[in-house]
Amino acid sequence: MDTKAIQHIMRNDYTYIKPRSTQRILQMVLGEGSGILLSEGARHRRQNPAFGPNQIRELTPAFFEKSFELRDIWAAQITEGVGRVDAMDWFSKTALDIIGLTGFNYHFNGLNGRSQTNELSLAFSAIFRSSGWASAWMPVIAALPIQRVFRAVSIDPMNACAECIQRIGREILTESKAYLAATGEKSSWGARDLLSLLLKSNMSTEIAGEERMSDADVIAQIPTFLIAGFETTSTSLTWAFLALSQHQEIQDKLREELLGVSTATPSMDELNELPLLDAFLRETLRLYAPLIHIMRAAEKDDIIPLAHPITDCDGIVHNELLVRKGQMFNLSLLGVNTDKSLWGPDAGEFRPERWLQLPDSVKSIPGVYSNLMTFFGGSRGCIGWRFALMEMKVLLFTLVRSFEVELEVPKEQIVTSRAAAMQRPSLSSEPIRAILPVIIRPLKD
Ligand code: HEM
Repeated sequence: MDTKAIQHIMRNDYTYIKPRSTQRILQMVLGEGSGILLSEGARHRRQNPAFGPNQIRELTPAFFEKSFELRDIWAAQITEGVGRVDAMDWFSKTALDIIGLTGFNYHFNGLNGRSQTNELSLAFSAIFRSSGWASAWMPVIAALPIQRVFRAVSIDPMNACAECIQRIGREILTESKAYLAATGEKSSWGARDLLSLLLKSNMSTEIAGEERMSDADVIAQIPTFLIAGFETTSTSLTWAFLALSQHQEIQDKLREELLGVSTATPSMDELNELPLLDAFLRETLRLYAPLIHIMRAAEKDDIIPLAHPITDCDGIVHNELLVRKGQMFNLSLLGVNTDKSLWGPDAGEFRPERWLQLPDSVKSIPGVYSNLMTFFGGSRGCIGWRFALMEMKVLLFTLVRSFEVELEVPKEQIVTSRAAAMQRPSLSSEPIRAILPVIIRPLKD
């Protein structure tokens, strides 16, 4: 939680890398290519796709398209003025559809209920969800050598799923290349997805041959976007809905701000000018960071400076930490986000208005976005933070303007489940499953 130590680790990102155990798990799904999650050094720099404001601006209409689809599905579920929905489930379907469409122009059909016949969706849920092995066993499995992982999780079905992901990745890549060759620059939606942008920059004559990514590396970006961007975003949206349903006054004020916008499809820049929406989302991402910690392993001996000296069990005070190669670090993102010494005594409370006047102490937090550790920072910080923010703003904009939200169960029944470094809302009666049952009511005219 020491911000100076974290900053040192961020700055020395070739010394502090993802632990081998995490890399082994990712490699199973990413195949031969490395994808940005797994690559290190120069390879990593080369793989950074374009996630800048210009790209996100272009993706915003697609976020709206999916938000309207969800709004209409929810509206159709309302009988006698009341609808009951599991926000977690619906946000998962929406985020999957969005990352498929905007990431690589692929239709998962999560919202329209046809995902059960969708191969890629089935392969992913087999790996990450249905059996539950990945979430529940990730830390255990990650610590095993790869051969034992295969024995532990029954290699055949896993291999079949990984092969399916690779095969579909190759198909998507072939289609994207053919599309780009036929249509050239941005002639229609197809060439605006993130994979096409990556392909375009990879094909640019400014990049030397040996600097280009291999096809395997490009294919590895597809599961990379899914692993990194889908569950993190849907979980954050679910927490946002919990916050809305627990703070009626904030919900009312936010709705007032959103209804003050004269169009149902504001631009990215118009959305970014809404102060309460912005503060509400920052506060959600602070208190309910979906990834609560990340791990790093030292590749060589080092010395880590500390903002706050540590007294060891022999009473010796240390102003810096001596590190040996191979030592592991647990960087507590949630710990920093809720540290009372930085945020003040109300650090554990949901108070969007804190963003109007932040204490100077939080300026030492080295996050890529805002004064938050939620998306980490440095050159290995999240590359999808602008994407995630805009997706969440669009969905909140559409849904809060359409429905009033309240919890379907007494608030005491909502608990936080923490597994595989994620925090998700669940019910005390079934703490393993992520769920948020809410009641929605259409807004009266
Ligand atoms: C609320 C949503 C999100 C949160 C909280 C989040 C958080 C994070 C964090 C903490 C990391 C660092 C992980 C580590 O190094 O161990 C990370 C990395 C990454 N994120 Fe996100 N993320 C979100 C959404 C997204 C989205 C939507 C995408 C893509 C469309 C994305 C793509 C990535 C990638 C590719 C990396 C790896 C970067 C690298 O290793 O250089 N993320 N994210």
